[in-house]
Formats: sequence, structure tokens, C-alpha cells
Amino acid sequence: MSKKQLKAIEALEEAQKIAFAPFTFQTTVALRKLGVFDYIFDNRDGGGVTVQEIANALSISVYGIGVLLELAESSDIVLKDEKGKYELSKTGYFLNYHETVNVNINFTDKVCYKGLDHLTDAIKTGKPEGLIELGEWPTIYEGLSVLPEKIKKSWFEFDHHYSDAIFDEALEIIFRNNPKCIFDIGGNTGKFAIRSCKLYEDVNIKIIDLPGQLNKALENTKNEGFGERVSGYEIDWLTDNPSIPTGMDTIWMSQFLDCFSEEEIVKILSTCVKSMDENTELLIMETFTDRQKFDNAKFILEATSLYFTVMANGNSKMYPADVFLRLIDEAGLKLKEDIKMGEYHTILVCKKK
Ligand SMILES: C[S@@+](CC[C@H](N)C(=O)[O-])C[C@H]1O[C@@H](n2cnc3c(N)ncnc32)[C@H](O)[C@@H]1O
Repeated sequence: MSKKQLKAIEALEEAQKIAFAPFTFQTTVALRKLGVFDYIFDNRDGGGVTVQEIANALSISVYGIGVLLELAESSDIVLKDEKGKYELSKTGYFLNYHETVNVNINFTDKVCYKGLDHLTDAIKTGKPEGLIELGEWPTIYEGLSVLPEKIKKSWFEFDHHYSDAIFDEALEIIFRNNPKCIFDIGGNTGKFAIRSCKLYEDVNIKIIDLPGQLNKALENTKNEGFGERVSGYEIDWLTDNPSIPTGMDTIWMSQFLDCFSEEEIVKILSTCVKSMDENTELLIMETFTDRQKFDNAKFILEATSLYFTVMANGNSKMYPADVFLRLIDEAGLKLKEDIKMGEYHTILVCKKK
């Protein structure tokens, strides 16, 4: 980001936008939910629609549509012409139709919004103080499998959005050496295991996760017909002296280590090292903050860090790659390859020192 100073009037405008940012966010959520964005977009050919037309079509008061669209116009979400007809701006279009924006809005709305109110306390205590808004667990991960349906859906859509699309490309890297047994640490819903079993018929996967999530993952893999090839191993990495079995060719960790503090990451990786031999590959896939081409990708990752602070565990974040390179070394691993994957991801291929 450039360090250029804004003019005072622009800076004040930015400050006021931040002061009322929750209003703009909730206005956006309401315009999406009430179908106002859809209506404006679907009727764009007539040169825009008036508040009255929207209100009639959606059976909402003129007052209601009016207050939402006034703020939306000042926030450059919609455009109004001199006849009072509204159209979506490009930002408004993205707020309603862009896939990543959609996933991020739902995640902020359903999972984080209420909890964010506890951010100051979370920073002070190092605990996910906002999690109380969703349930009573030490971290969000114990609660994932039992979250209320709408919240769960938004969490998993957010999680999957940032890893699913890259799995096929990642599998090509993992399967260069034809592994027969893979440990998927933080295997979550079993999506990676299912994809691997579909594409590679003689591989076996062991998913290693917390009990609640592991049961779901094993149920999902069984339902896909891979019950024989996918097994599970329960673990809580936050307990003293965790251990994992031996016998794997590859350890796979996708968007997993960012759920832990630096100290915990070293503990997890050192535990893995104890079960590895000189041929075992340990692959870490992450979206590193310092490896993003676009500022908006870096911004998403930085916001995600605050989700970890206030909702998830209170002490983890999205990291820059150089931190991981240091932690890998501290844990007794050596970096063999550093591979850029697609637009946002990196795979670090490690072996035991
Ligand atoms: C962000 S998800 C990873 C998702 C998946 N690997 C992917 O790429 O989409 C993090 C996973 O780590 C697991 N996890 C979090 N804390 C854990 C802990 N203390 N012990 C064991 N597993 C944990 C969660 O249950 C979850 O499945």
C-alpha cells in the first residue's frame, strides 16, 4: 500500500465511512436479502427504476426502500439519475453477484458480525471472546459440527471457497511421487480425501482431526463409497504431547496451520517430524499475506486474521511466508520446494532434516 496522504476533506470522508461502516454493511445485506439488487439489475434495460417501482414490485414501503438506497447511493453502491431512477454501480453489481464477495458477506454476516463487538476484549485476553455469540466452546473448531445450520453453511462455504478450486492442481503436485498413504491433517469435511480417492484409485487416506469434525468427514467419505480407503485418527493438537501414527508417504495440511499460533505450529510440525522418515513429504498449502498480487486479496486475508482473533481461537492469523519458513526450520524440517499455486496459494514441500 502506498503511504500517500489524502487531502483533509477526503480523509474526513474516509473516516466517516469507517464510523458508519456497519450501517453500510447492513444496508448491503438488507438490499441483497430483500431482492432490491436483483430487481434493479433485472430491470436495468429501461434506464433504471424508481423507489416507488421497487417498493410496489417487492411489497416493501417507499420509506424502507428509500432509506436503504440513499445510503447505498452515497456509498457508491447504486447510481441515481436526475429522474430518480436507480441502477447498480459496478460495486453494487459485485456486492450482489461476485462469488468471492458473496461468500465473504455471508461469512461476515452469519459467523462474525455479532462476535466482532468483542474484538477489543479478544485482543486484551488472547481468547476468542466473540465466540460466545455462537456457543460455548474453547475454540470454534469444537463447535463446527454442531453450529446452527445457517451459520455452519456460511462457515463451510467460506472455508471451501478458498481451497476447493485449487485441490486438483495441488493433487498433481502431491501425486508426482505416487504416494499410497496420505495423512490429511485438518481434513475437515473429507472433501480432499474424496477428491483424491476419485482421481487416484490405489491411495489410502487417513484424516486427522478433532472428534466432531472427524466423524462428519468419515460419514461423508463413506457416503461417497470410500469407507474402505479412508480412515480416521482423532486428535486435539492443543493437548500436551499429541502424537500421530507412522506409515504415511505424505502429510498434507491445507489451510490448517493458520488455525494456530507460531508456538503451536512448531509443536504440530515437530510432532509430525517424529512420525516421518527420510522419504516422507510434508506439504503445507496456505494463502500467504505477502504473496498476493492484488491488494484486495491481502485485505481479505488480513480481515480473516481478525476472525481468528475474535471468533476462532484468539491467537492465530494468516501469516506471511517468511514466518512459515522460519517455523519449518525450527520444527526440524527442511524446505525442498516452494511452489506457487494458481493466483493465491503456495505449497511448501518439506522433508525431515
Ligand atoms: C480451516 S479448516 C481446514 C480445512 C481443509 N483442510 C481445507 O483445506 O479446506 C481447519 C481444520 O483444522 C481442524 N482443527 C482446528 N483446531 C484443531 C485442533 N486443536 N486439533 C485438531 N484439529 C483441529 C478443524 O477441525 C478443521 O477441520
